[in-house]
Amino acid sequence: MAGYEIRTMTQEDIPQIVAIERLVFPTPWSAAAFRSELEDNGMALYLILTAAADPATVLAYGGLWKIFDEGHITNVAVHPAHQGKKLGRFLIHAMIAWAWANGISHVTLEVRPGNQRAIALYKSVGFQEAGLRPGYYEDTREDALIMWLHKEKWGKRYKVKDGLRTKLKNGARDGLRTKPRREAGRRGGISLGSGD
Ligand SMILES: CC(C)(COP(=O)(O)OP(=O)(O)OC[C@H]1O[C@@H](n2cnc3c(N)ncnc32)[C@H](O)[C@@H]1OP(=O)(O)O)[C@@H](O)C(=O)NCCC(=O)NCCS
Repeated sequence: MAGYEIRTMTQEDIPQIVAIERLVFPTPWSAAAFRSELEDNGMALYLILTAAADPATVLAYGGLWKIFDEGHITNVAVHPAHQGKKLGRFLIHAMIAWAWANGISHVTLEVRPGNQRAIALYKSVGFQEAGLRPGYYEDTREDALIMWLHKEKWGKRYKVKDGLRTKLKNGARDGLRTKPRREAGRRGGISLGSGD
């Protein structure tokens, strides 16, 4: 995706993230929740997608917890003004490439069964439905659709170019850290101007 960059989230991004959360999710995460993810959760990786020309403005973001060889996607969102431009797909690819490059072999997520757009995106990158988590969403008591993606089934179609994989491995490694420093996210930035 020419012209876009992916980097790790910093504390400075949180107000924009929360604004997007409020636009796209019925029960948005709070700023405190994101702060805690960055400061206290050593298993968490949060990636931000921006235009290369404007790296301070968040267009999309996604989070992943690394639990042994499993990756648990916590949230994925694209600013409504930028949806439908393949940014969600690009971000998911980056998250998955990071996962494969960092010892994760299986990635899972929960999605509302009515969220056809997200389900279509996840299926198109290879996620498969694997049952329901009853009453998972506290706001509506909706069940969650559980989806899984397995590295061994990722296949050629979804193979990320070597250059991108290396950039993700080297650049986003800082994303998994117990106490992120203010500058760490910037250092961990991944320029994907000519990738994917
Ligand atoms: C779901 C979301 C992340 C998708 O990101 P996006 O940038 O809008 O999607 P993309 O442009 O990358 O499209 C990727 C795929 O998603 C699916 N998709 C996108 N828009 C769609 C629509 N209006 N209807 C059905 N499927 C759609 C398609 O499979 C599409 O692939 P294709 O264009 O090759 O057919 C984004 O719409 C979003 O942030 N939604 C609100 C928050 C949310 O629901 N997050 C997921 C929580 S589990």
